[in-house]
Amino acid sequence: MIKDNNASGKWDADYRWGGDRWDLGGPTPVFQRLLAQGQFLPGRVAILGAGRGYDAREFARHGFEVTAVDFSASAVREMEKLAEPEALVRVLQHDLFTLPSELDHTFDYVQEYVCYCAIDPTRRGEFADLVARLLKPGGVYISLAFPLAFPHQGPPFRVSVPELLDLLGERGFKLVTREWPPDSIRPRKGNEELLIFRKVSN
Ligand SMILES: C[S@@+](CC[C@H](N)C(=O)[O-])C[C@H]1O[C@@H](n2cnc3c(N)ncnc32)[C@H](O)[C@@H]1O
Repeated sequence: MIKDNNASGKWDADYRWGGDRWDLGGPTPVFQRLLAQGQFLPGRVAILGAGRGYDAREFARHGFEVTAVDFSASAVREMEKLAEPEALVRVLQHDLFTLPSELDHTFDYVQEYVCYCAIDPTRRGEFADLVARLLKPGGVYISLAFPLAFPHQGPPFRVSVPELLDLLGERGFKLVTREWPPDSIRPRKGNEELLIFRKVSN
């Protein structure tokens, strides 16, 4: 049977049967460091494909107003359990590609980790359109691009940094930071790059 990774059912099933080997069980050390260092001023952030929401909660702990989006009912249930009552996490169970237009240009930041690589590669242009439409002018896109190498048919689908630079460049983004994170988790070290873009024109 071919699993349709464009459909929430595939992801839901993975969460339920424990096929969620991407899940770190806690916030991503790279984002923990950036937030602890105050690299980003608090603002409104959309976390795309937020999974169980550890990073969403981490941003909220640092004073961000967080909208965490995922279309898997299981992931959303877990996220709602994890969100501390005082944390400003708004959990949206929704397909990223059909988010309502009321959200357009309302975010200071968009963040993704292990979400872009989960999307069918034929939809990467649509994904870049989504990032562009969610962000306010001058907004920032934070991507921990993983995996840069992956020998098998995805998901995860291998991420090409040159392709990502082109897709975002065509939509008015400028790359402002590129880093091989020193604190990537060991199995992902050298296989992920932190890329931070600013939306400089529409
Ligand atoms: C590989 S998991 C990563 C989850 C989380 N970012 C993490 O690192 O633990 C990919 C997530 O993206 C979600 N996802 C994939 N395609 C989506 C779509 N079109 N709309 C909303 N969520 C989507 C899946 O449900 C899943 O939770």
